[in-house]
Amino acid sequence: MADQAEHWNRIFTGKADKELGWYEGDVRQTLACIDRIPCERSQTVFLPGAGTSLLVDELLARGTRLVLNDISSEALARLQERIGARGDRIEWLQQDISQPLPIGATRADIWIDRAVLHFLLTEQEIDGYFGNVRTVVKRGGHVLLAEFSETGALRCAGLDVHRYSVDEMRARLGRGFELLWAEDYVFINPAGAPRPYVYALFQRN
Ligand SMILES: C[S@@+](CC[C@H](N)C(=O)[O-])C[C@H]1O[C@@H](n2cnc3c(N)ncnc32)[C@H](O)[C@@H]1O
Repeated sequence: MADQAEHWNRIFTGKADKELGWYEGDVRQTLACIDRIPCERSQTVFLPGAGTSLLVDELLARGTRLVLNDISSEALARLQERIGARGDRIEWLQQDISQPLPIGATRADIWIDRAVLHFLLTEQEIDGYFGNVRTVVKRGGHVLLAEFSETGALRCAGLDVHRYSVDEMRARLGRGFELLWAEDYVFINPAGAPRPYVYALFQRN
């Protein structure tokens, strides 16, 4: 964890938000996905790798309670500074999401992962991640995964990535989750390069 955390801290220390390769000035793609979920506004949303995403501001404006995790203390500090007094409905966590969450971790109605899972490469890390999904997401709750697709880039942020199909996401989540919707989406990064993602929304039975 220490190496990974340092890697991400260096990135967040060295670049402004708009210089980050995954920076989205407009988070409508994710908002449109979660608008497919009925009554999401008063619910608790868990972000396993929040980064400094503007999705946080949008969800706060909707009245959502948030659990914001990231492996990078720098990302969380920058986000905390930006959110300021608007953070009273936020629980902050700093941990490697491939490792078990603390006993008694807050349970959530919606898990939203954009560009976090695909950095986990070993079976152990990936299993750990999906174990946390099962710990956190309530029955009837939802999981939105947005990862590099099978036609996507091989690397991001100086790291290799594991690219996903919807079938692999479904298999990794297991029988307790039903696929509701999926879409290929090409994100154009701040340097103007296309980055193909797959978005998939699941519901826990
Ligand atoms: C590509 S960025 C995406 C950030 C945010 N989700 C967004 O869409 O802007 C990946 C984020 O995941 C975090 N991260 C990477 N590996 C992680 C891990 N094992 N556990 C928790 N967070 C991790 C990084 O620090 C970074 O904030």
